[in-house]
Amino acid sequence: MIKPLRKAVLPVAGLGTRFLPATKAMAKEMLPVVDKPLIQYAVEEARAAGIEQFCMVTGRGKTALVEHFDIAFELEATLRERGKTAELQALRDQQLPPGAIVTVRQQEPLGLGHAIWCARAFIGDDPFAILLPDDLVLADTPCMKQLADAYAETGGCVVAVTEVPHDQTNRYGILDIDSDDGRLVSVKGLVEKPKPELAPSNLSIIGRYVLVPEVLRYLSCMERGAGNEVQLTDAMARLIGQVPFHGLRYEGTRFDCGDKAGFLEAQIAFALKRPDLGPAVRAFLRKYATA
Ligand code: G1P
Repeated sequence: MIKPLRKAVLPVAGLGTRFLPATKAMAKEMLPVVDKPLIQYAVEEARAAGIEQFCMVTGRGKTALVEHFDIAFELEATLRERGKTAELQALRDQQLPPGAIVTVRQQEPLGLGHAIWCARAFIGDDPFAILLPDDLVLADTPCMKQLADAYAETGGCVVAVTEVPHDQTNRYGILDIDSDDGRLVSVKGLVEKPKPELAPSNLSIIGRYVLVPEVLRYLSCMERGAGNEVQLTDAMARLIGQVPFHGLRYEGTRFDCGDKAGFLEAQIAFALKRPDLGPAVRAFLRKYATA
């Protein structure tokens, strides 16, 4: 029987050094794309996939991430007094039920694998999703929903994948492909950040995963991999052959919001989709494109 997917882990302990000084006193996951912080996109995407329980793996200076999902009593009272019902409703919509978020601290930046291991008590014996808020996906069907649907078919582990230019394999976890039907890829190996000449393919993992709890057993070995960090990819690789393991070519466009150019592109792409902003943004883009 395939266990239902109800839990998600959000690793948010990173220092955000690439966005200094913006991230000096503010969590990078609070950076907005148009008018919504990255963390909210991740939570909304997970909820659209049926996720009910969240664990944020945080660090110092990250309290705003939890505050963001709390009831802002004074703010709500003021909005009500002023008759700002649309704004009030928007706040209500983003609120999570009481007890839906827990946090754990990572304390030391030892890698993504270590961050996930920090959530072991939350994960328990259940399958779980991981969303890396830096990766933002613009899609008709939310990316995590696509992944959850694939998981309901296959069970085991499912990761969202996309092709990257060959010279960029050293930035991602890369799949060694067993078979490929154009949508679902059966995986026979995984390599974290291989040099282009050593990469088994150019199919890369993006920050969306559905994993089985057994991955924790391998994470607890704390073996160091690429960049001398405890790599999630290495622990996942050890599950291959034990449980079904698939890559899903999701439908949608992924933006790397951990990168300045990717973050700016996301702003434009998301703004163009908005009925209230699209026309104005399209007009000024034309102006700059011809300048
Ligand atoms: C992490 C993972 C990598 C994955 C990437 C997706 O790398 O280790 O396998 O491809 O996220 O964004 P990071 O971006 O933390 O270096």
